[in-house]
Amino acid sequence: MLPLPSHISVGIPSIDDQHQSLLDQLQRMFSDPEDHPGSADFSEALSRLSGQLIDHFASEEQVMRTLGLPPDMLARHIDDHSRIIEQITQLSFDLMKQRLIERKTIMAKVKDWVLGHLTEYDLQLRNRKP
Ligand SMILES: [Fe+2]
Ligand SMILES: [Fe+2]
Repeated sequence: MLPLPSHISVGIPSIDDQHQSLLDQLQRMFSDPEDHPGSADFSEALSRLSGQLIDHFASEEQVMRTLGLPPDMLARHIDDHSRIIEQITQLSFDLMKQRLIERKTIMAKVKDWVLGHLTEYDLQLRNRKP
């Protein structure tokens, strides 16, 4: 497991550790392009990542409330967590209904949930200490 690259570290160890394992899981999902949405392995990896993300958002929000962030920054960040959780719920509903969704469509979403959100929102937490 590679250490979290410093350019995406927020400097809060509990959060960086969780980001690290989310990125590892994302990496695992990208590493086998033959692994398709209908397969058991793919569903298992997707549900593991989804569960990890939902737990992570809850614990990140707990930490964020101790950082004295400007209220609108906090609200926008939490809104983005909610947006992602809605997408996770919708995607798992669609997959449960056996709707055909291409691997690349799902992987683009998953990448946005982890890496997109991290770079757009979580990095704002850098250098803010509880
Ligand atoms: Fe976040
Ligand atoms: Fe995060």
